[in-house]
Amino acid sequence: MKNLTYFILCLAVTSIYAQQNVNYDESKVPAYTLPELLKCQNGEMVTTAEEWEKQRRPELMELFASHVYGRTPAESIDVYHELLTENPEALGGKATCRQVKFTFSNGNKKTEAILLMYIPNKPKGKVPVFVGYNFNGNHSTTTDTTILYSPGLRLVREPGHPDWERGNQTNRWPYDMIIGRGYAVATMCYHDIFPDKPELKDHSVISLFPGYDPQKTAPDDWQAIGAWALGSSRIVDFLETQKEIDTDKIAIMGHSRQGKAALWAGAQDPRFRIVISNNSGCGGAALFRRKFGETIEIINKAFPHWFCENFHQYNNKEEWLPVDQHQLLALIAPRKVYVASAEEDLWADPRGEFLAAYDAGPVYRLYGLETINQDKMPGLHKPIMGDIGYHIRAGKHDVTEYDWACFLDFAGKHFKN
Ligand code: GCU
Repeated sequence: MKNLTYFILCLAVTSIYAQQNVNYDESKVPAYTLPELLKCQNGEMVTTAEEWEKQRRPELMELFASHVYGRTPAESIDVYHELLTENPEALGGKATCRQVKFTFSNGNKKTEAILLMYIPNKPKGKVPVFVGYNFNGNHSTTTDTTILYSPGLRLVREPGHPDWERGNQTNRWPYDMIIGRGYAVATMCYHDIFPDKPELKDHSVISLFPGYDPQKTAPDDWQAIGAWALGSSRIVDFLETQKEIDTDKIAIMGHSRQGKAALWAGAQDPRFRIVISNNSGCGGAALFRRKFGETIEIINKAFPHWFCENFHQYNNKEEWLPVDQHQLLALIAPRKVYVASAEEDLWADPRGEFLAAYDAGPVYRLYGLETINQDKMPGLHKPIMGDIGYHIRAGKHDVTEYDWACFLDFAGKHFKN
């Protein structure tokens, strides 16, 4: 019965989207001018990497924080780590698996999360790592019955919901392949950081920070995407304590809403040396001004708790937004950024995702790095692997083995693994 209700709800939400007159016609993309990447607010153009870092980059960081994702607090809260399990013979003896409880606390109130890590047993010595959130809980990424249920899941999914089924998203986490290529993986359920419903902010890490008031939200207060970004930085803090991890080789990979959060995390935290956004679409890699597929108005209505309140004033007013997403990608320079699209994922606007990667080029060129050299999209399964990377594959919105194979190649190239 509950599943049926959920199904009906999903249908209703989908049909609301359908009624919104979503544009999937390239010829109807409006003419637009992207906001300037290299021109400072005082009218000067930056011409060197140094000027970019000193002048223009901070301006753009401020615009993204105040108009799109909200401000990440400068204060920190306590995070305690407790090793729950360690299995040196995971994945048929190929990896060591650790499950670590994170307790976030402000002294009065706490929230909990569980990090799941696989570290290759070979090679010996320090290895690079992929950090990334899973959607349905750590237990969903594997059929291993020793993997614990993620605490955040119980806040958003009633018992019996399909997300509780073990191994329901193993396709998105090809651990054998990742470990086989010599990488560690660290994943956590994103609901552990901000359970993904507007009414659950009180259970998120945001509720632990000074100044949090459930009754009052400032226009530039951070929201769920900001919280998820912060959570991935807290995962990096922990990885820095792990003897097997090469902390100069940390990649973050996020899919869809987590692709949005990964880009924002990558812009803020330079410890992410590679930032990968998979099918991240609106609010992720896609250019807002194309208004193709999901738009600002649609996303703010469906997910009012993802972006800061200021962002809502741009519903149907993309041209007034002081930034666009090529600038978000550029904020990651000179670190490496990779954008992945899926052919059938029109909701996420593959062409808009590609163009943002293309249009981030001028900043990467200030560092003498390799950018995408033409605005014509590559063919299916023809990845571009410069310092900015991109691929589009056949198929639907998802993370596939093909995607991972490309991410591993990209990381291999830049981490020289
Ligand atoms: C919805 C949403 C997208 C988001 C996606 C996901 O489709 O509209 O913006 O990327 O969910 O996270 O799976």
